[in-house]
Amino acid sequence: MTVSLKGRDFLDVWDFNREELDQILNTADMLKLRHKMGIIDQPLKGKTLGMYFSKASTRTRLSFEVGIYQLGGYGLFLSANDLQLRRGESIADTARVFSRYLDGIMIRTFSHQDVLDLAQYADIPVINALTDYSHPCQIMADVMTIREKKRHLDGLKMVFVGDGNNVALSIMEAGAKFNMEVVIACPKGYEPKDADLTRTGARVVYDPVEAVTGADVIYTDVWASMGQEAEAAVRKQHFAPYQVNADLVKHAKPDYLFMHCLPAHRGEEVTNEVADSINSVIFDEAENRLHAQKAIMALIMG
Ligand code: CP
Ligand code: NVA
Repeated sequence: MTVSLKGRDFLDVWDFNREELDQILNTADMLKLRHKMGIIDQPLKGKTLGMYFSKASTRTRLSFEVGIYQLGGYGLFLSANDLQLRRGESIADTARVFSRYLDGIMIRTFSHQDVLDLAQYADIPVINALTDYSHPCQIMADVMTIREKKRHLDGLKMVFVGDGNNVALSIMEAGAKFNMEVVIACPKGYEPKDADLTRTGARVVYDPVEAVTGADVIYTDVWASMGQEAEAAVRKQHFAPYQVNADLVKHAKPDYLFMHCLPAHRGEEVTNEVADSINSVIFDEAENRLHAQKAIMALIMG
């Protein structure tokens, strides 16, 4: 049994039920396998994806642009610097204009509300490719990676060590949907919002050793996200006890997975020893951005 996701926005993991999310993962696995076998699938032949960026990107840009091309479509890179939006054209009008040319929009920006507004006024599917609030495409690739390595998701203990920010929020939502235990290890003052913890059932543990004990997955992210550069020095001090290093990971299960959305600040949130260890799946995650997002695009734009 499959459910149709045609025409849906992909704004957050929370907006989808388990059956729909499993369908995205199964489609991603299938597209990945077929791609590796050299089979060409072009369900989006002749379709165009607008890719709007007002923040830097390596993986997201590459994976969406390569992904839409592999599906038979065309990706149009739209820099925030070049659009009339920057000169005051409204999001509503921009959304209406996008909808007259494009078949889907991918957006990476600061304000989550801007993405919600774009989705409200656009007649075509909108994909959230990171805001200050969440990073759902990343987490779909991560969950795909965990399922590949562990063969299941339900009941796993996933520990996010770092800032209770956008990546943590999407992990919390995925934990709730896929029945994983999510623990956030962060310094005081950097917790996710109480309402999001309550909603998702995730919990905060301030002691990183206690948090990672028995972990199946240890995940971290930069201490200062895009837009927080001015806080980098003070954050470095607050987060220093939360570095994912050899001393910390020895408390996890021996076959734990080390994950990082990347880019990493090696030597800060993670040491080279951990990032390059046999437990590390950071480049599998990066690769799976391609396959997971191809599934999302094929299902909602197809
Ligand atoms: N993980 C991730 O979104 O990477 P980029 O910022 O390079 O797109
Ligand atoms: N939390 C990071 C994630 C980058 C993919 C940021 O927002 O910069």
